[in-house]
Amino acid sequence: MHKKYLTFDKPLDLWEAIRRLNELVDVSDPDLDLPNVQHLIQSAEAIRADGRPDWMQLTGLIHDLGKVMFLWGNDEYGTSQAEQ
Ligand SMILES: [Fe+2]
Repeated sequence: MHKKYLTFDKPLDLWEAIRRLNELVDVSDPDLDLPNVQHLIQSAEAIRADGRPDWMQLTGLIHDLGKVMFLWGNDEYGTSQAEQ
């Protein structure tokens, strides 16, 4: 997994990664029918509205970004859209 995903040869800026996450239909969260970007922004906004610190708001914004590995995933490693 380190060889496959820690090569830093496919750079994405933060907003591009968030936008690309909208391409994922996340089967791990069947109760969520919002686009992923909306889920991330709602999470960050709820944390902000609750008066939590900036770092926690950022954490809410990026908490699902690891799921972008599906963009380069495959069935063998269980990282594809189908095998997530
Ligand atoms: Fe989430």
